[in-house]
Amino acid sequence: MKISEVSFTADVLTVTWQDGSASRFHGMWLRDNAQGSDYRHPDNDQRLFDLTEVPADSHIADAALRDGQVQVHFQPEKIAVGYPASYLHQYAYDRPDGSDQQVWGAALSDSLTRHSYEQVLADPAARLHWLEDAVDKGIALLTGVPCEPGQVMKTAEIFGFVRETNYGRLFEVRSEPNPVNLAFTPVGLNVHTDNPYRDPVPGLQLLHCLVNDAEGGQSVFVDGFRTATLLRQEDPEAFRLLSTYSLPFRYREPGTDLQSRKRLIEVDDRGRITAVRYNNRSAAPMDLPFDVAGDFYRAYRKFADLLHQEDGELRLKLMPGELVLFDNERALHGRTGFSGGARHLQGCYADKDALRSMRCVLTNEMREAAE
Ligand code: OGA
Ligand code: ZN
Repeated sequence: MKISEVSFTADVLTVTWQDGSASRFHGMWLRDNAQGSDYRHPDNDQRLFDLTEVPADSHIADAALRDGQVQVHFQPEKIAVGYPASYLHQYAYDRPDGSDQQVWGAALSDSLTRHSYEQVLADPAARLHWLEDAVDKGIALLTGVPCEPGQVMKTAEIFGFVRETNYGRLFEVRSEPNPVNLAFTPVGLNVHTDNPYRDPVPGLQLLHCLVNDAEGGQSVFVDGFRTATLLRQEDPEAFRLLSTYSLPFRYREPGTDLQSRKRLIEVDDRGRITAVRYNNRSAAPMDLPFDVAGDFYRAYRKFADLLHQEDGELRLKLMPGELVLFDNERALHGRTGFSGGARHLQGCYADKDALRSMRCVLTNEMREAAE
């Protein structure tokens, strides 16, 4: 977008765009983001100075449009810095807060895209579509993953790194003798996010189905962001309590005693929902201040009721060769009980930063290839 006009005061530059909209920039923001090799390393674009090296009274002495760039003169340093219009447009922060979060409920059961493993490996565009589902919806389904042990880790390595834990690099989900975890029994599992007792909580989980001959053993997923949004609309006080107070979580087995405190709903500094945790199995005895605990339980119950509503449940029976990748701080997962046959999944954890990074890299590659 081209710039039609600039104006300034000592503290604020105002850029008017060709479409008539305007963006304001603080002088200190411009100084901090000074462009050019005096301020950024030419090879890696990292900043070469610290904010403490900028005079505290740095201000805009002049600003003008020149060859599509905005030239800003700063005093008392007596320096001139040019900002390309594209840079200012990309990083304009003077805009209303908005959330473009997509949320989903039961209807996704019929419309969840089945991404082909073969294509994801062979074609960067197919890989990008798969990763976009994982980032935007918090859940993505792959089909045709070879039914061989360890493939779940190979799949995580398409975009990032396996997060090893005390369960190992991967964990087996099947009925075991003397199970250390309810997951390793044929019992149904209430919807939950995994491992809120870890710090940090695993951001992503992958579950790969190797065998599912059992009766039952259907998977259930719930969009925790949709549910938290509903709670905020229906009961703002409950939302406030769950996003303010953290609960203790604990997991013990011989040689391991993991403990952490987590909020059930996390919001960022602008109130956007960024994480949901819910795990009835590993919630430790609640220890909130006595005067809060009663109201907290009412809020907790309300949230739990909403999480168990059928219209929020994506249900599918994972079949051999299918692999589900999901945001473990957003998409709750569970299963119905099973009997009468074998069921074997392999799972592993990974982190969201690598997923988002790969998505950005592929998006940029696609854009450059199209230009
Ligand atoms: C788990 C789990 C789901 C399943 O192991 O934590 O949720 O489908 N398993 O068995
Ligand atoms: Zn689980």
